[in-house]
Amino acid sequence: MHIPECCGPLPPAACDVAFARAAEFFPRHFPDEPYEVAVCMSWLLDPALADHLPAESNIVRFQRRFAIVDTQESDSFERFVMPGSRLDGRRWDIGRGWLEL
Ligand SMILES: CC(C)(COP(=O)(O)OP(=O)(O)OC[C@H]1O[C@@H](n2cnc3c(N)ncnc32)[C@H](O)[C@@H]1OP(=O)(O)O)[C@@H](O)C(=O)NCCC(=O)NCCS
Repeated sequence: MHIPECCGPLPPAACDVAFARAAEFFPRHFPDEPYEVAVCMSWLLDPALADHLPAESNIVRFQRRFAIVDTQESDSFERFVMPGSRLDGRRWDIGRGWLEL
């Protein structure tokens, strides 16, 4: 999965559409290969975000779709967190997660 910088916000309805399109796209174009899961590695999957954002926020609802396997330290969040925002001022790890398509 890729969550580009251009195109927020990330509401659940837009995610539903994207996952539905992916579930339809892969069997149609790659019928010989099974694509049963989507995987994501992102600061957006740091479970600690759920302690800093409302349960109904887009990011927390996005996280809940995934089985988060583990986290790893990285500086990559610095590229994506807006300075001066409520998420600025601490480190966010990269979470690795997957979900069934
Ligand atoms: C993914 C993204 C669209 C989510 O934004 P969103 O849909 O607005 O997220 P939420 O509704 O959950 O936001 C909840 C709060 O966190 C803040 N927030 C969200 N993304 C933020 C970011 N990248 N930096 C700082 N604060 C952020 C929101 O402003 C909001 O704060 P508020 O309640 O004070 O208004 C946004 O983070 C973004 O554009 N990120 C850049 C791309 C990216 O990170 N891709 C992943 C790369 S691995």
